[in-house]
Amino acid sequence: MIGVFEHLARPLLAALDPEDAHRLTIAMLKFAPLPRAGEDDRRLGVRAFGLNFPNPVGMGAGFDKHGEVPDALLRLGFGFVEVGTITPQPQPGNPRPRVFRLEADAAVINRLGFNSQGADRALRRLARRAHKGGIVGINIGANKNSSDRIGDYVRLIELFAPVASYVTVNVSSPNTPGLRDLQRASALGDLLARVIAARERAARTAGPTPLLLKIAPDLTLNELDDIVGVARAFRVDGLIVGNTTVARPPSLRETERAKETGGLSGRPLFSLSTRMLAECFVRVENAFPLIGVGGIDSGAAAVAKIRAGATLLQLYSALVFRGLGLVGEIKAALIAAIARERRGGLSDLVGVDAAVVTAEPWPQ
Ligand SMILES: Cc1cc2nc3c(=O)[nH]c(=O)nc-3n(C[C@H](O)[C@H](O)[C@H](O)COP(=O)(O)O)c2cc1C
Repeated sequence: MIGVFEHLARPLLAALDPEDAHRLTIAMLKFAPLPRAGEDDRRLGVRAFGLNFPNPVGMGAGFDKHGEVPDALLRLGFGFVEVGTITPQPQPGNPRPRVFRLEADAAVINRLGFNSQGADRALRRLARRAHKGGIVGINIGANKNSSDRIGDYVRLIELFAPVASYVTVNVSSPNTPGLRDLQRASALGDLLARVIAARERAARTAGPTPLLLKIAPDLTLNELDDIVGVARAFRVDGLIVGNTTVARPPSLRETERAKETGGLSGRPLFSLSTRMLAECFVRVENAFPLIGVGGIDSGAAAVAKIRAGATLLQLYSALVFRGLGLVGEIKAALIAAIARERRGGLSDLVGVDAAVVTAEPWPQ
């Protein structure tokens, strides 16, 4: 049913401005009767940060920025959904156009700049659905004009801990000037000290909330050493590797579109983000799990991410080009990989190729 529906809708969506197409997709998910994906094979189950994921395939942040459709996405077969980025105050983001498709590269460039309806509206929606269960993480960010960015994260953790399965501290969007500076070791230490204290305060009433950090793929290995060191010292519950890249790989075919300012995602991000994932895996030494994100557009790409070090996966851009059928395709490929390797489950495959990946030439 969703296949037929998508078959009809996709040419229309592809003809629209990407942001209009996105709005229409959210409206369809809100109002169209959706089929429920079948029960997941038990071998796809993953336990991470104290949560039981029915399968490891998550919807990445940025698709459902305002918490409008998490249950529709879970119903369609995602193992978890990350809502956001949410900022404390509503803000419009950058002027349009600010999302661009690079069709020939199966890539997207966005410079949305945290367009957010703000914490209050998202919180109301998420509180209404909290009893339904399903793993819904909340990705949080600072307002562009905030005078106290760390204070913004603290406030959002206190607000969202009661309704979030986990909270992601996003310090890696390239579209809020200066935000990525919070990844520097000293700033990150200050940030994590304060957000973890906020999480502990919230835990008294909300219970435990895993805290994840989402990092950029555009870090030097020295910077990554520092970040992993700080993340381990503060005992974060996981790292998401990673956000969009400001790099423009020379392989891009849509050279004019590639000049647009913003973060690049989709297929051309796969090799860089997978290399960064493997570099994280060898540094983290199983202190916490990693979520692998960036350019997953097939079952084979998903298996490669897990083998490079991902316990869980997220995707976004490939859904624009491949549609929602990709989620089922990835799950089938994961089950096939488990059977082929004669493993009991996915955890046996996590990071088996990390050392090999880190020994390859640096991806272009
Ligand atoms: C249009 C768009 C908006 C995004 N917005 C956010 C966001 O608000 N917060 C965030 O952490 N990541 C955001 N992302 C990044 C994705 O979550 C993901 O990290 C990145 O796109 C790489 O995955 P992909 O290649 O599967 O798209 C956005 C990505 C796209 C394409």
